[in-house]
Amino acid sequence: MNRPDTGVDVERARDVLNRGGLVGLPTETVYGLAASIAHEEAIRRVFAVKGRPADHPLIVHVANVEAARSVAGVWPAVAQRLADAFWPGPLTLIVERSDDVPDVVTGGRDTVAVRVPSKDIARELLKLLGQAVVAPSANRFGKVSPTTAGHVADDLGSDVDYILDGGPCDVGVESTIVDCTVDPPQILRPGAITAEQIQGLIGDLAAASGPSRASGMLESHYAPECRILTVETLAEARDLTVDPSTRLIDAASDPEAAARRLYAELRACDRDNIRTAVVVLPNAEGLGAALRDRILKAAFGH
Ligand code: TXA
Ligand code: MG
Repeated sequence: MNRPDTGVDVERARDVLNRGGLVGLPTETVYGLAASIAHEEAIRRVFAVKGRPADHPLIVHVANVEAARSVAGVWPAVAQRLADAFWPGPLTLIVERSDDVPDVVTGGRDTVAVRVPSKDIARELLKLLGQAVVAPSANRFGKVSPTTAGHVADDLGSDVDYILDGGPCDVGVESTIVDCTVDPPQILRPGAITAEQIQGLIGDLAAASGPSRASGMLESHYAPECRILTVETLAEARDLTVDPSTRLIDAASDPEAAARRLYAELRACDRDNIRTAVVVLPNAEGLGAALRDRILKAAFGH
């Protein structure tokens, strides 16, 4: 597979997007596979490259709240409060869509997902482009998300036209998704903006139970090739990782650091032909809820 061009040339990334090409976009959460919202053909190519079903909608990434409001048909007060508190940052809001948003982005739904990423180079690109981009995580469908430019190159090769290298992602797991079209709002996917933080701001929050409408909630997602065994204590994990074909991943002692490294560690297990990764689960508090969610999904079916 050919290695795609990679670098820190924001103007080149803009030009690629303006020509209808695809760009590996670093964000604070994970790398995205970006296409300009003005190029429907490019958006279709995003689905094709990922192998993603057409009914799994994409997140629209914008430079600021004003641009987010312009893709919304209705902008509820609760969305404004969440945006004021947590944007730019790892939070995606689901709101009613404007008619201007192409059907291909939303899978024909009447809602749209939107966020303002906080990573400097991503914001610089969005400002320079003067346009929204759609960006799912830059991995093939069902696989582990990329957290470095090298991961994107490994996964997508020359299917991506240029990779903007923003270094390793600071958060390491995908954004929190909050559905603002229901009352009270509901978390569809946990992330670095935690349920505790959101509840602290808006008070009422629906429990994240029942069949979710975010496809990231599929039970098997984020899966590496190796088997994943989850345990609750480090002692158990030590007992289970005596054999060299096993590897211990401690996600409990320092959840922030563990989130930053998780996807790279899962990729490393596959690269090193590890058969079983034994993962110590963090408590489901704060960022621990998102980490548990991703780890249990990676483990599903093994
Ligand atoms: O951190 C992130 O959110 C990363 C970076 C690149 O921004 N992006 C990301 O995108 O994780 P993706 O496509 O891998 O996951 C987006 C999730 C999917 O589960 C999708 O189904 C859900 O958002 N989604 C998008 N639009 C939706 C909508 N209108 N209603 C419900 N769920 C929606
Ligand atoms: Mg994804």
